[in-house]
Amino acid sequence: MIVITGAAGKTGRALTWALAERGARVRAFVRRPEQVAVAVAAGASEIVVGDVGEPADLDEALRGCSAIYHIAPNVHPDEPAIGRAVIAAAQRAGVERFVFHSVLRPQLRAMPHHEAKARVEEALFESGLAVTVLQPGPYQQNTLDAREAIVRIGDFAVPYRVDAPFAAVDLRDVAQAAAVVLCEDGHEDAVYELAGPEALTPRLIAGHLAEVLGRPVTARRIDPRDWYEEARAGGLSGYPLETLTAMFAFYDRHGLTGNPRTLAALLDRAPTRFADFARRVFGPDDAHYAPGFQRQVLPSERDSLGSN
Ligand SMILES: NC(=O)c1ccc[n+]([C@@H]2O[C@H](COP(=O)([O-])OP(=O)(O)OC[C@H]3O[C@@H](n4cnc5c(N)ncnc54)[C@H](OP(=O)(O)O)[C@@H]3O)[C@@H](O)[C@H]2O)c1
Repeated sequence: MIVITGAAGKTGRALTWALAERGARVRAFVRRPEQVAVAVAAGASEIVVGDVGEPADLDEALRGCSAIYHIAPNVHPDEPAIGRAVIAAAQRAGVERFVFHSVLRPQLRAMPHHEAKARVEEALFESGLAVTVLQPGPYQQNTLDAREAIVRIGDFAVPYRVDAPFAAVDLRDVAQAAAVVLCEDGHEDAVYELAGPEALTPRLIAGHLAEVLGRPVTARRIDPRDWYEEARAGGLSGYPLETLTAMFAFYDRHGLTGNPRTLAALLDRAPTRFADFARRVFGPDDAHYAPGFQRQVLPSERDSLGSN
């Protein structure tokens, strides 16, 4: 039995799906009762509802489990403390494997949520547990957040340079690599960078989307100050607002690149290129696929798909 924290989220559901596909049994740790159905639909066999910072809830979630895959809440100010609570619970439960869903380049202090993951990695390396750290790049699926404007008016707007390069990775590849690490032997003490196969810029993304949709899509840089004011007016504040602002400032200067070889080795195939992801997820209908081809849209992708 493998416990997944953050199991009802975008990453958690993808991993549950990938583990269930391999026949592994997943206990999903979710925060709210209404997320139980979501986790079951993704393939979880057992569910525990609780708070990932609460030792008693963690003890219940980890009882009788062989491994834990820790997915931290997204852009959360207490991420290091939550990580330490999960590590302590894993030690109490005597789990055999702890796999941490970190991020590409956690040592980048300019981005507080990367730095937070470096602190969790540090605590893990001092824990005495059998640890594996996965460091995924930005998901290709993040483009789905802008799907409506892309599909409706051909506008792909980002608060950073349209020529900034990213090692954007397919979340399905990340989930399948995580399932390899959890289900196969020999991955203890490893730190694996999970980067996509190309230096992808917003301008290149727009080009691929235009091809799939059959109409123009233009990448456009929003002034980060305008993004900040709009996000604030929309109710974002405090740590998430400041952290995302810092992230976009970093992206504007450097992008976020990485090397795909480790991911290719784990998957034993080439990582998914954005053009193929775009066809799979933004493609108008299944008619584009050869008979018998399984489209394999991830549960969280399905949420974002309307009619084109
Ligand atoms: N997006 C990317 O490109 C990317 C790339 C690399 C790494 N990551 C990392 O991946 C992680 C997960 O991201 P995601 O996009 O999958 O996030 P997500 O969809 O927001 O999922 C996070 C889940 O954690 C749950 N959660 C939040 N606080 C909790 C608490 N106190 N107790 C129990 N559960 C709680 C959330 O429940 P609620 O819905 O109730 O809040 C949600 O189901 C983040 O740490 C992120 O930094 C993301």
